[in-house]
Amino acid sequence: MNVVKSIRLWDLPTRAFHWSLAVLIALQYATGEFHFLDMRWHFWFGYATLALVAFRVLWGFAGSQTSRFADFVRGPAAVWRYLRAQASTNPQRHLGHNPLGGWSVLVLLASIAVQAVSGLFSSDDIDTDGPLAARVSDHTVKFMTRVHHWNENVLLILVGLHIVAVVLYLLVKRDNLVAPMLTGRKAAVDARPLRFASAWLALVLFVLCIAAVAALVWRA
Ligand code: HEM
Ligand code: HEM
Repeated sequence: MNVVKSIRLWDLPTRAFHWSLAVLIALQYATGEFHFLDMRWHFWFGYATLALVAFRVLWGFAGSQTSRFADFVRGPAAVWRYLRAQASTNPQRHLGHNPLGGWSVLVLLASIAVQAVSGLFSSDDIDTDGPLAARVSDHTVKFMTRVHHWNENVLLILVGLHIVAVVLYLLVKRDNLVAPMLTGRKAAVDARPLRFASAWLALVLFVLCIAAVAALVWRA
């Protein structure tokens, strides 16, 4: 007989990372595009975003099972099998990111990293210069500013697709992905317990990431 029980799925560091990131990205658009608050805040939110993304990369190697890249980054064949199975009467269910979702996580993280790094070298040519803009040539500043403007739209589209995907899972597949991202738990059939890393390790890694970002921008 199949036994349904509530299991731990996402660790606290990954959940804290996710919701802080979502709030920070919204604040970045509010400050950059809509001039809500001073641009200095745009920079502060940007530094926090950089530290979070750096942390998530480290956590992808040292974190809990469902947060590790090795657990959810799969080749094209696995993505294809997953897509084909969705059309069948017995679609695959995954504990953690599915093979397609895994790629969307990587693409989202890459776009956020490009946005935050390009911001460090951007300038509005009036009074707002990223902290590393004075260290590179005018040509590089122009290029990075163009990347910052262009990728701002790419990121917006990716976040839009991300939210649409989550809503479709809920409406079409009746699979609520949001509750586990909030509580960390999910009901699963005959699931074996997953491996979890220490939240203290996450804290140490995050502090190291903050120190690295601080060293990068205050040396400028
Ligand atoms: C700017 C906004 C957002 C960004 C940049 C973002 C980014 C991400 C990233 C990077 C992950 C991977 C988590 C990890 O493994 O570390 C993720 C997962 C997830 N996000 Fe978001 N997110 C945003 C907004 C939202 C919103 C508004 C919702 C709710 C409607 C949401 C629901 C989820 C869920 C449910 C997952 C887990 C998906 C799964 O089960 O595989 N996200 N998001
Ligand atoms: C993921 C994080 C970020 C997002 C989503 C973001 C988004 C934006 C947006 C929407 C604008 C307005 C561009 C326009 O006028 O169309 C902007 C401008 C700007 N951002 Fe960011 N930004 C991020 C990170 C950063 C960081 C880390 C820095 C530097 C520390 C930075 C520095 C700047 C500068 C200097 C401008 C003015 C450029 C101009 O108006 O030509 N940004 N950003």
